[in-house]
Amino acid sequence: MVCLMDKKIILDIQSISKHFGALKAVDQVSFQAEKGEIVGLIGPNGAGKTTLTNIVTGDLKKTGGKVFFKGIDISNLLPFQVARLGLTRTYQIVKPLEGMTVEENVLVGSLYGRANRKNNLYQGRKKAREIMKLVGLDKKRDSLVSDITLPDLKRIEFARVLAMEPEVVFLDEVMAGLNPSEVEEASELIKKIRKEKNLTIIYIEHIMKAVMGISDRIIVLHHGKKICEGSPKEVCENPAVIEAYLGKRFAKEVINNQ
Ligand SMILES: Nc1ncnc2c1ncn2[C@@H]1O[C@H](COP(=O)(O)OP(=O)(O)O)[C@@H](O)[C@H]1O
Ligand SMILES: [Mg+2]
Repeated sequence: MVCLMDKKIILDIQSISKHFGALKAVDQVSFQAEKGEIVGLIGPNGAGKTTLTNIVTGDLKKTGGKVFFKGIDISNLLPFQVARLGLTRTYQIVKPLEGMTVEENVLVGSLYGRANRKNNLYQGRKKAREIMKLVGLDKKRDSLVSDITLPDLKRIEFARVLAMEPEVVFLDEVMAGLNPSEVEEASELIKKIRKEKNLTIIYIEHIMKAVMGISDRIIVLHHGKKICEGSPKEVCENPAVIEAYLGKRFAKEVINNQ
């Protein structure tokens, strides 16, 4: 288990619950993330990963618990307020702004995000171009989003969020639908951006090779509850995680490859 005692905690999720009628989609989940850390958030479909993200970002109202970001209680804030403080997310199903170019999509993030440059198009565009270069979209900046491929739509999703200059980002299945070499590329990109921006990333993913390779620490959800937290190796060796999610063969393969 990673000791967080003397590390800089940027996100502190305290006993968050979300009930939909009788269903406890998220059930008293707590964890922390420190500055610059990549925390993997995994679990079977329906485990509560997206719901937890929606609570933290203010997209959904919680049933119980609190969320502190940089020591500020953000539990009752609206999504745009949370985003402007520096905590943002991508959407599991990509949400490009149709009828607009790649650059215009990223510009929305830089104009209305944390720095709120809505009165300064020059500054906003400068930021958008810096980010497009970082994620490898600079050559496609004038393409309409309707003309580009899924891996690039995922890049736009990421770029729009980065243009907001966040400190914490929830990435909700950004690699779904990508082929193995695209997954490899996306993993390198995430690692590069974490390093360059000292970004904290909560990384939700089903592609285990990517999660195990990128994450410093992993949280496992099952039926809304946190069932395990630890290093990738600890998680792969945990009997409850093997039973609920990984399966014996996969867990063995990961451990052998480390
Ligand atoms: N708006 C909603 N209304 C009712 N049930 C929901 C709603 N959103 C999610 N759920 C349910 O909550 C559970 C957790 O879903 P979700 O957070 O999307 O899981 P994950 O992202 O881990 O796949 C699922 O059983 C899902 O059907
Ligand atoms: Mg989900």
